[in-house]
Amino acid sequence: GDLLRDNFKRPCARFNGYVMFEELKTYVDSLVKMNVRDDDIWVCSYPKTGTTWTQEMVYLVANDADLTKAQKPLNDRYVFLDKCFLIPQKMASHIESDINRIKKLFSSGELTEADQGPRFIHTHVPYELLPQKLRDGSTKAKIIYVVRNPRDTSISAFHHQLMVGRYNGSLKNYGELFMKGLVNYGPFWKHTLAYWNKRNDKNLLFLKYEDMKKDLPSVIRKTATFLKKTLTDEQIGPLCEHLSFESMKNNPYINEKPLIKILKSKFNPEGSGEFFRKGKSDQWKNDFDAELIDRFDQWEHENLKHLNLTSYKDL
Ligand code: A3P
Repeated sequence: GDLLRDNFKRPCARFNGYVMFEELKTYVDSLVKMNVRDDDIWVCSYPKTGTTWTQEMVYLVANDADLTKAQKPLNDRYVFLDKCFLIPQKMASHIESDINRIKKLFSSGELTEADQGPRFIHTHVPYELLPQKLRDGSTKAKIIYVVRNPRDTSISAFHHQLMVGRYNGSLKNYGELFMKGLVNYGPFWKHTLAYWNKRNDKNLLFLKYEDMKKDLPSVIRKTATFLKKTLTDEQIGPLCEHLSFESMKNNPYINEKPLIKILKSKFNPEGSGEFFRKGKSDQWKNDFDAELIDRFDQWEHENLKHLNLTSYKDL
């Protein structure tokens, strides 16, 4: 109904209980039936949890920390599956070649180019809508999921929506929509816990944004082990430097994402806001008032109690 039009002012529908743009209807069957290759690397996430950061990290770990391999747009190194339904059909001509690439991938399981070597794919779709072959253990394809404290995720998403001109309410109202699961890809806990439930699968690695902030070298090592790579300290040092917020912000191959550019120019031509906004943990302690902090605590408790967990930190 109307609620599902939410802040995006776009028709949404429920898919397996998740709020997604209606355009997904056209693609959902192909997505679920899509062919998956053993050497595929999938970066999956709820939006605004540090996807881009994780993409760059994973790409470089998979490429033996060879920084020269990252000297082309991140957008070309990964296929972003959701592009086919994230942008209104009438604007799709802007990214026609990207969409054709995705369609090709859905229909034949192959990309036009890069048939050699691993395919890097990223998506925000919930676990339940991933290709069957990725979920049933019939391939060795790898999934790396990144999660972030929902409080900071909601703040980041709020600013993202302001930036692309899709929302103009208050943070507090956005937070309420977020908790109700009435924003794109919501509900957050359903999304996160579906992946978290698979955290012990040998083909899934579950990462936290906060761990990357606190100790990136450890997360890199963990990712390397997962991808069966060996990296030396001499490689990890420069890689961490490359992955720092400032360095990524100033990296023309990463900043800024073409899809965001299109949305910004279309919906918020005069507006401000940057994709690389703050890149911090625990911003909610500054940005939330006492009431919103309480609401989030309650909501978290309600959504985790069946697992005997008390907060996000226990994941
Ligand atoms: P903020 O809006 O809180 O700054 P996604 O890539 O999933 O859209 O996530 C975007 C969030 O990740 C933004 O959060 C962005 O600043 C943050 N981010 C991107 N690169 C980062 C990095 N190298 N270090 C820390 N945070 C980063």
